[in-house]
Amino acid sequence: MIHPAIGLTDDACKQVSQKLSYLLCNEFIIYIKTLKFHWNVTGSDFKPLHLFFEEQYEELLQIVDDVAERIRSLGYFSPGTATEFLKNAELTEAVGENPPAAAMLTLLLHDHEAIIRIIRKEIDATTALGDAGTNNFLCDLMERHEKMAWMLRAFQG
Ligand SMILES: [Fe+2]
Repeated sequence: MIHPAIGLTDDACKQVSQKLSYLLCNEFIIYIKTLKFHWNVTGSDFKPLHLFFEEQYEELLQIVDDVAERIRSLGYFSPGTATEFLKNAELTEAVGENPPAAAMLTLLLHDHEAIIRIIRKEIDATTALGDAGTNNFLCDLMERHEKMAWMLRAFQG
């Protein structure tokens, strides 16, 4: 067991890894949705949006990987199936719809804002549990989402 060795209680690590697992499920849904919009965007802004969504899904895949590996750093296994991601996420997929480009931007923006709210709550929880490492990880992650959200807003004009 790594927890005493790194100065955290077993309970703290368990609680934090559960919170990170919940975050991971939501990160995966926004990753998939951004990928779908990269494929299916249409209209006069096709080219810039196609490239912009690619940039964002690449960053989101890196985030997904970072969150899963943070869970592993705390000594727990990460969820890693579509079934688990769908079952545990509050974000929803854009099933059966290919909205106009402007609506795609709004949907993704709202998802990033929801994830920022999730992370903010988890930052407070890691402070209370004394997990400075995950706290720092989540503060950085929140800034990455805030930047992605800004870019989505900027595209809306
Ligand atoms: Fe592509």
